[in-house]
Amino acid sequence: MSQTSAKKIEEVSSFMIAPYVHPQGCRGYLLVDKLSGDSIAIDVHLDFVNDMTKRLKDEYWNLLYVIDTHTHADHPSGSSSIAKNFNCLRMAHKKAEHSGVSNHPENGEELFLGESTVFVRHTPGHTPDHMGIYIEGAFFSGDSLLIGSVARTDFLGGDAGQLYDSIHSFLKEYPGDTVLFPGHDYQSKTKSTFGEEKKENPWLKIEDREEFIKNLTANPPERPANMDELLHLNREGVEIAKLISSEETKKIVEAGGAISIIDVRSEMEFEDEHISGSHLIPLDQLESRADEVRAIAAPRLLLCKAGGRASAAFEALDEMNIGGLSVIDGGILAFKETGGKTVKGKELDEDASSTSCSASLPIDFETGKKKDS
Ligand SMILES: [Fe+2]
Repeated sequence: MSQTSAKKIEEVSSFMIAPYVHPQGCRGYLLVDKLSGDSIAIDVHLDFVNDMTKRLKDEYWNLLYVIDTHTHADHPSGSSSIAKNFNCLRMAHKKAEHSGVSNHPENGEELFLGESTVFVRHTPGHTPDHMGIYIEGAFFSGDSLLIGSVARTDFLGGDAGQLYDSIHSFLKEYPGDTVLFPGHDYQSKTKSTFGEEKKENPWLKIEDREEFIKNLTANPPERPANMDELLHLNREGVEIAKLISSEETKKIVEAGGAISIIDVRSEMEFEDEHISGSHLIPLDQLESRADEVRAIAAPRLLLCKAGGRASAAFEALDEMNIGGLSVIDGGILAFKETGGKTVKGKELDEDASSTSCSASLPIDFETGKKKDS
């Protein structure tokens, strides 16, 4: 079983919920009506597609809808891929303007899985196109309320005041024992309830709307790696090309995207010369270090000397259900010929973990008091 597979099924009212967890922190879900097997896939990361597809087929669940709670800026969406596998309906808010998505649920719209009802709710703030999904006993909050945190609002038309209004509105409407299933989990806390969040979440301790806005906008985190490429992929629905040219790679590196390059050569070759910021994961270590690959922001660019080992790496990672890969055509040799810069010597991989959709907390988690920053 790969690391993105749902480890267990949660049961809430008339539903089963299979959570999928990505090493990058993203979470996606299969929401299934117990009796009929009718189901919805929520926030499908490209790396979840194969695992989810297999699960749906093995269990004879009937996938009716695929929903992105919002336009994702930190990972490639697998919605179009999984929708193609099952020929089912893709949904997003009308403000999302995703190519190929013509079904836009209104605020309060009901969807039916067998005899069970699912409510879609417009929850703007993180982005204007953000939606949450409510079933009796649980809420899929996407990137609005997170466990112990809230989403950031500093890009894609986000609005901290709207986020405050959205969160407080659904917290007020739904009961305290409503189970929270967020779109991200950065602290290995996988489950919470509205009641627990009201008690523990430092952002919910800020009662004043203006104070909330001031704190949330005070300390914006860095933009997600490859954000422009990811937005293009997620909005246009294009697939990541299997091969990327050295010219294109040079542009990405110059724009700060070297952290998505996975160099599959040997340690010795890497030390001799490499692209600064790239990750060294030699071809023969890919299997044992697959989770490190998953934690690197997609599109992930595979590099070797001339392209042969990178192509082999593509095949090996594909076998492990890891998507979002491109082979750098002609390897580091072609990259240098194009004028790309390299460095010599040892360089430690940067921490590839991401907190890119969560707010950065300017207050102390335990005390609720402001941190000195
Ligand atoms: Fe997000």
